[in-house]
Amino acid sequence: MKLIIAKDYEDMSAKALEMMKGVVVHNPYAVLGLATGTTPLGLYRHMIEDYNSHGTSYAHIRTVNLDEYQGLPKNHNQSYAYFMRENLFRHLDIEASNTYIENGTAQDEQAECARYNKLLAEMPRDIQLLGLGSNGHIAFNEPNTPFGSETHVVDLTENTIKDNARLFADISEVPRKAFTMGIKQIMQAKQILILASGANKADAVYKTVCGKVTEEVPASVLQLHPNCILIADKEAASKL
Ligand code: F6R
Repeated sequence: MKLIIAKDYEDMSAKALEMMKGVVVHNPYAVLGLATGTTPLGLYRHMIEDYNSHGTSYAHIRTVNLDEYQGLPKNHNQSYAYFMRENLFRHLDIEASNTYIENGTAQDEQAECARYNKLLAEMPRDIQLLGLGSNGHIAFNEPNTPFGSETHVVDLTENTIKDNARLFADISEVPRKAFTMGIKQIMQAKQILILASGANKADAVYKTVCGKVTEEVPASVLQLHPNCILIADKEAASKL
């Protein structure tokens, strides 16, 4: 794993743009694996600014997202589909039909997981963007998820529900379950870019980079990926 320490959130986001833009410019038909959450917002802002000022085109780009809350329709303002549309897609020239995410309201969960697995197999990702959970999760693969996991439905841990509650009016509104891409599929991306910002990520960053590779810390699996870059700001890197 290659480690880059950024000055702050802004610097982390600018460095992440260089990598993401590199992929898009090199291959205008690339498949981008994308993430939601607070961490990539700065990168998405930079992508939009870059599109507006330099015209970097996403007309032929396809995207697949990591995860979606179970039970939230795609127009719900806390769904990840809505997040992606509002914070990135509607500001770029990307085709909505080229953006993929799990269907949070699928009645048959197993069929939905199978559909997503098939889609991921058909669309190898050129780059997979990840945020890092304060407990070391990647996507919604919580501690002790098997490294061989594929798309599945998870019960979110209390820790993750608490972390995510800040985005909801009340903690009782945070969904308890989510669809998530599996660890095996995250590892299948040609390149992985993981971002971490803030002191509350310092423990997880330390374990991801220096800890032993263990299912107790899902992100530690990234040590085994041949082309993974972690960009952490100073606070997130403070325990290294
Ligand atoms: C989001 C996702 C999660 C987040 C992680 C960090 O699609 O898969 O794993 O990346 O929970 O969230 P933030 O960035 O909000 O700290």
